[in-house]
Amino acid sequence: MKELSLHILDIMQNSIVAGATLVELDLAEDREEDVLTFSITDNGCGMSTEMVETVVNPFTTSRTTRKVGLGIPLLKAAAEQTGGGITLSSKLGEGTVITASFGYSHIDRQPLGNMAETMLGLITSYESVDFVYRHRVDTEEYALDTREMRQMLGEVSFAEPQVMLWLSEFLKENEAALYLVK
Ligand SMILES: Nc1ncnc2c1ncn2[C@@H]1O[C@H](COP(=O)(O)OP(=O)(O)OP(=O)(O)O)[C@@H](O)[C@H]1O
Ligand SMILES: [Mg+2]
Repeated sequence: MKELSLHILDIMQNSIVAGATLVELDLAEDREEDVLTFSITDNGCGMSTEMVETVVNPFTTSRTTRKVGLGIPLLKAAAEQTGGGITLSSKLGEGTVITASFGYSHIDRQPLGNMAETMLGLITSYESVDFVYRHRVDTEEYALDTREMRQMLGEVSFAEPQVMLWLSEFLKENEAALYLVK
């Protein structure tokens, strides 16, 4: 994967496949401390301790009975190549938290990519899932919570053209504003 937003999309899709009704993404860029971190928290089906081990280190397990995916190992590799890493904590029946940290200015850190498009796509594609998204760059930050937006929208769908357009502009403007200071 070439951009962090694609990793984020993959990890959030894991949450959705796991049956989550609420997926939270916290993204923080601390340029002074030279670190970029994000955490994705869901209330999906969760994983057993054994599953967590296997998922993080698919090639070190002797198990061959289950096909394991590559989303989490690829994220791990992308983080580790910048001096960072991931943590995965999960509880069956409760949910999962995955965090990833990256060396901000490391030459191998992938660019963040388009977070406005990533969030717009998720929100409009998975109407039965709620999303909380926070993005901070140093001291600037903004947040959105689809549960609050739904209250304003009533029965109107996020996929309605006017709603999508509004949401798209909201995301684009707020993302851009994060980088205006300094
Ligand atoms: N948030 C989650 N909640 C519950 N189980 C999860 C979660 N994230 C991952 N898993 C489990 O870990 C497995 C591995 O996830 P991973 O993203 O590495 O691969 P994948 O989604 O199976 O395939 P892909 O390579 O397409 O991403 C998943 O198939 C799923 O069983
Ligand atoms: Mg996946």
